[in-house]
Amino acid sequence: MFKEDKFPNAKIFVVDDDATSIRLLTKILSDAGYKNIKTTRNPNKVQKIYNEFKPDLLVLDLHMPHMEGFKIMDQLREVHKDDYLPILVISQERNRVIQFSALEAGAKDFLVKPYDSIEVLLRIHNFLEVRMLHQEIRGHNKELEKKIQERTEELNQTQKNVIERLSKALEYRDSSTGTHTTRMSQYTFYLAEAVGLSPMECAILSTASLLHDVGKIGIPDSILQKPGKLTPEEWEIMKTHTTIGSKLLSGSNSKFLKLGEEIALSHHEKWDGSGYPNGLKKEKIPLTR
Ligand SMILES: [Fe+2]
Repeated sequence: MFKEDKFPNAKIFVVDDDATSIRLLTKILSDAGYKNIKTTRNPNKVQKIYNEFKPDLLVLDLHMPHMEGFKIMDQLREVHKDDYLPILVISQERNRVIQFSALEAGAKDFLVKPYDSIEVLLRIHNFLEVRMLHQEIRGHNKELEKKIQERTEELNQTQKNVIERLSKALEYRDSSTGTHTTRMSQYTFYLAEAVGLSPMECAILSTASLLHDVGKIGIPDSILQKPGKLTPEEWEIMKTHTTIGSKLLSGSNSKFLKLGEEIALSHHEKWDGSGYPNGLKKEKIPLTR
């Protein structure tokens, strides 16, 4: 009458203090084609077996010596905060209030002993169908999360590459600085590490610092590449590379560019306030400087 189940490998865990009940249910399940059945009559072992076996369905008796089914459900709910916990309570309990309490406590369904073998199989089948769908959705979600992580990493890498190439381009233009930008980026990493930033923050800051002199792109060659000393007027123009740089990088959502904007603006500020462009003093100067 009951067709062989399409989830023969589903893991079913039966907890009942009554040996006859366990034998009966095990036979019904085996005859229906279920191959993965674990049982215990000792409620104190449920948690351990549950954690090791990781069942797709727990068939639970409500009233047992030493531990009530309610307590077991409480314990398992703690472990399964984010997971679908499939519990079918099978009990002799006929009190409707207690039956409702079991459903409230986490049981997904309630069957009263003695039960009809066809009914129990149909209910278990429905349970497993929901469980498998749930698992499938979880699997898809995990896959999606992984893909998002990969894409984010890819995007970060692309941003990093573009920033590195832009800073290399600047080094070509401002030949006097040589590999200054790259060196600064390495120093930034070590300093950020020394002040206790996380490895991720150190890496982002280090990359963003490559942009500190990006504003020099707006300084005329006659000043930028002047071999001798700059006149006071030329020096004033040179100082504007801070504000030009921050404007160039402003308005972006990229964490690299946001930090780069702050660094470009404030990297010539000095602790005693004698720096530029804003003459900031002490703690008023952003950490990124
Ligand atoms: Fe600079």
